[in-house]
Amino acid sequence: MKNILEASFVEEMVEVTSNLYRLGWDERNGGNISYLLDEAEVSEYLDTTNVLRNISMDFDGTALKGKYFIVTGSGKYFKNVAKDPANNLGVLKVAEDGQSVDLLWGYTDGGVPTSELPAHLMSHIARLEVDPENRVVMHCHATHLLAMTFSHELTSKAITRTLWEMCTECMVVFPEGIQVLPWLIPGSNEIGEATAEKMQEARLVLWSFHGVYGAGRTMDETFGLIETAEKAAQVYTYVQAQGGVRQTISDENFIALAKQFGITPNPAFFEAAQVTSR
Ligand code: 13P
Ligand code: ZN
Repeated sequence: MKNILEASFVEEMVEVTSNLYRLGWDERNGGNISYLLDEAEVSEYLDTTNVLRNISMDFDGTALKGKYFIVTGSGKYFKNVAKDPANNLGVLKVAEDGQSVDLLWGYTDGGVPTSELPAHLMSHIARLEVDPENRVVMHCHATHLLAMTFSHELTSKAITRTLWEMCTECMVVFPEGIQVLPWLIPGSNEIGEATAEKMQEARLVLWSFHGVYGAGRTMDETFGLIETAEKAAQVYTYVQAQGGVRQTISDENFIALAKQFGITPNPAFFEAAQVTSR
């Protein structure tokens, strides 16, 4: 059996949690990540029949039964993941009953997966339905996006339009836009269900007065998605501090951009009647 600390999936979790901490988006235990793994890659490092503990869930994860994930622990600090991956991360398999997970590695101090497991697993189910290659769900407290939920008109359309306008390439990176949720209780099944519903339409979901969720096929893609939206929110903050928008990207510009990159921006967030790719 190979050393799991050298597994690329552990290294990726260490790297991304360190970056998220360094960027100030995961203070204290803020944020959580889940990463869908192949049985073959897990088997190189762990005996998948050796269950350390069974941890119950109070939602239905049947759609994911038998699937493996590496997940950040509840109450764990992203700041500390690099120096002790085995305590701050866990590898788990969704149990046959779909109502619990089998821990195969990690959470060495007796810990449990993130309190946001409902939002993560429900989002995986939703994303896999629209993109069978989706593997990552990431939550963080990205500072400027979070701030915008206090000061900006709080609709998916209005926030998407502002973010698209703040950096030309935003519309190319998230043509489907960002979906906004009202304030809901973190860790609840309700916020999990609401997030998953929005994840059917978009890979970015903004939780009002809390943070952001991103989903993607790889760790880089998912981090890059959040990073791009957060950068736009930061530019928006500077623009507001500089006295507000005096000129911006026009609908005509957006149409030209969509043509150039062969993308179809979400028509619901677009003013122009026809915005289609080539
Ligand atoms: P956990 O420490 O349980 O992952 O919770 C952190 C968080 O950001 C809740 O939304
Ligand atoms: Zn949070």
